[in-house]
Amino acid sequence: MSEKIIILDFGSQYTQLIARRVRELNVYCEIHPYNKIPNFDSTVKGLILSGSPCSVREVKAPDVDLRGLKGKMPILGVCYGAQLIAHKAGNEVVASKIREYGRARLKEIHATNKLMKEITPFSQVWMSHGDTIAGLSEEFEILASTETVNVAAYKVKKEETYGIQFHPEVTHSLEGKTILRNFVVHICGCSQDWTPDAFIETTIKELKEKIGNDRVVLGLSGGVDSSVAAVLIHRAIKDKLACIFVDNGLLRKNEFEDVLASYKNMGLNVKGVDAREQFYTALKGLIDPEDKRKAIGKTFIDVFDAEAHKISDVKWLGQGTIYPDVIESVSVKGPSATIKSHHNVGGLPDKMKLKVVEPLNTLFKDEVRIVGKTLGIEDIILQRHPFPGPGLAIRILGDITKEKVGILQEVDHIFINGLKEKGHYKNVWQAGAILLPIKSVGVMGDERTYENVVALRAVTSTDGMTADWAHLPYDFLADISNEIINKVKGVNRVVYDISSKPPATIEWE
Ligand code: XMP
Repeated sequence: MSEKIIILDFGSQYTQLIARRVRELNVYCEIHPYNKIPNFDSTVKGLILSGSPCSVREVKAPDVDLRGLKGKMPILGVCYGAQLIAHKAGNEVVASKIREYGRARLKEIHATNKLMKEITPFSQVWMSHGDTIAGLSEEFEILASTETVNVAAYKVKKEETYGIQFHPEVTHSLEGKTILRNFVVHICGCSQDWTPDAFIETTIKELKEKIGNDRVVLGLSGGVDSSVAAVLIHRAIKDKLACIFVDNGLLRKNEFEDVLASYKNMGLNVKGVDAREQFYTALKGLIDPEDKRKAIGKTFIDVFDAEAHKISDVKWLGQGTIYPDVIESVSVKGPSATIKSHHNVGGLPDKMKLKVVEPLNTLFKDEVRIVGKTLGIEDIILQRHPFPGPGLAIRILGDITKEKVGILQEVDHIFINGLKEKGHYKNVWQAGAILLPIKSVGVMGDERTYENVVALRAVTSTDGMTADWAHLPYDFLADISNEIINKVKGVNRVVYDISSKPPATIEWE
């Protein structure tokens, strides 16, 4: 990496957004916790201090020693970051009389300052703070104010150190991206050469150097991340990459055959493994969702390990891990309780005693898609909704049988195909069907029926952390419901899940 920006995270909910915005400017950046400062070698062109839910007035406020950096490289403090720099220089930070949250407009902008270049008078910015910088000493100059805060943006006169009280990373700050560009391009001097093509080129070169003549094994899941990782590694080492795609019997209808065919089409050296019976046996009688996840994770590791051992001389395990999985998040409120254990196969590298290669571990999901597109991967793989590792097993409430999987696959197929046909698929973040452990009475023709209930779930979201139920048209839902009840034997009632996350989750288990 020839140049980068470091973001020190003080626990703000927006830290990842800052990183995304900087990367959208084709400048590579990394997030590090405030209490684990990385090595600042010559590739680091600037530093951004994030916001925080804390107050600098608290005794145990997160702090960072900037002595070695301040004045030596450009620094931008955002919200808490700005307050921290001001506070450490002896300026007063006080509790605001009213907590300022929402839109504000910048005035008295120093348009000649590099940070404020091209920012228009009364530009809308997004505020979210309880503390205010009460005043600044002589060494500081104010670059902008708002109706309610005098210090909306400042500069330390003899340094390239800046602070802004508002959040440039959220879209409600209409010229926030210009401010970030001013900082990373005009102040830090970054050359904006971190493009998908450049990423692909350097990654392939690095993979070649790292792997040499060794062989790599990689588990494909049909999802975006493992597919893009595989294509990148394949570009680097060709058929020394062996891919394994396991049919765990919990995939969508036809998924195994379709996806396997498209992998082969892409030129990947891939082996499909039918392990359905092994998974059904491992799941037999299990009801608790976490027990199911554990059984599936363990069976996957066993199947994968056995297959990998059939390939000689494997030294590396390729994985599609992405950046949000590896960012060490700053927990200011203590470690959060595990709600669901999503890391299905975390034990794989340990068990296999292989070195791990993760070419996407610096990318966000949307960046993985862009890289995949640049690599020429088909949209049917890139635009696919996320699908959980344990598959339909966590969408069948209660115990798993082959018959139940069969029913759910049919229902899910009708729903997903309907979404695609009617143009809703792209506007929905994730969708699927859930087989409920209850039966209900119905009437078909002249006969009373007593059969399964299925729930349909479709959500909108950006990252799965929060989600809203998708407001699909009633007519569409009515047609899908009719089609399911008419075509899928064993189902006589369809309901639509209208819960948001939180407090519900996306999956039912
Ligand atoms: P929840 O249900 O927690 O889901 O709102 C958030 C996202 O995570 C997916 N999910 C999983 N993915 N293994 C996975 O690989 C799991 O055990 C698992 N559980 C939930 C879910 O599909 C959604 O995209």
